[in-house]
Amino acid sequence: MTTCPHCPTDNWPELERGYRAMLPEDVLAFIDGNRDREHSESLLIATLHMVQDHFGHLGPGHLEAVAQLMQIPLAKVTGVATFYHYFRLQPRGRFLINVCLGTACYVKGAEKVAQKLMDELGIHFGETSKDGVFSLESTRCVGTCGLAPVVMIGEEVHGPLAPGQVPALLETYLARAAEEMAKV
Ligand code: FES
Repeated sequence: MTTCPHCPTDNWPELERGYRAMLPEDVLAFIDGNRDREHSESLLIATLHMVQDHFGHLGPGHLEAVAQLMQIPLAKVTGVATFYHYFRLQPRGRFLINVCLGTACYVKGAEKVAQKLMDELGIHFGETSKDGVFSLESTRCVGTCGLAPVVMIGEEVHGPLAPGQVPALLETYLARAAEEMAKV
């Protein structure tokens, strides 16, 4: 019988089934395929990427399942997930705001625009607003430097954008989100 070195109980097979049910097939195959290799941080990062690609974020249950199935302490898995900014620990909001911090945008004041967005939304990069409407992230040159400073919301490019224009821009998307909700 397979036993888990972290569990003094004899019901590991049952627990393992539960954890396996929380992850998609490709992730399970990846974990199983690398079972005999030393679990380096790069392997853990690759696994977390696959989980995030599937679910859009890394929830507490996903982290626990990865920890148990890879037999890595949960504190380490959580530490890696929180250390790297590209991992999202909350579901993405309806609209993803990407602030371009590429050189052209930076010299034209992208930081001030980013700060205004954070102030208005009450969140930082990598977070989602309480109402679930907006997630805030940063990116490098999106290829429209002539419009710097640029903010992308979903697939739409906005620029040049001054901090003072941010509230009205957010209102537009809030109204769109409310319209969508009304149709559901
Ligand atoms: S640097 Fe922002 S669009 Fe190029």
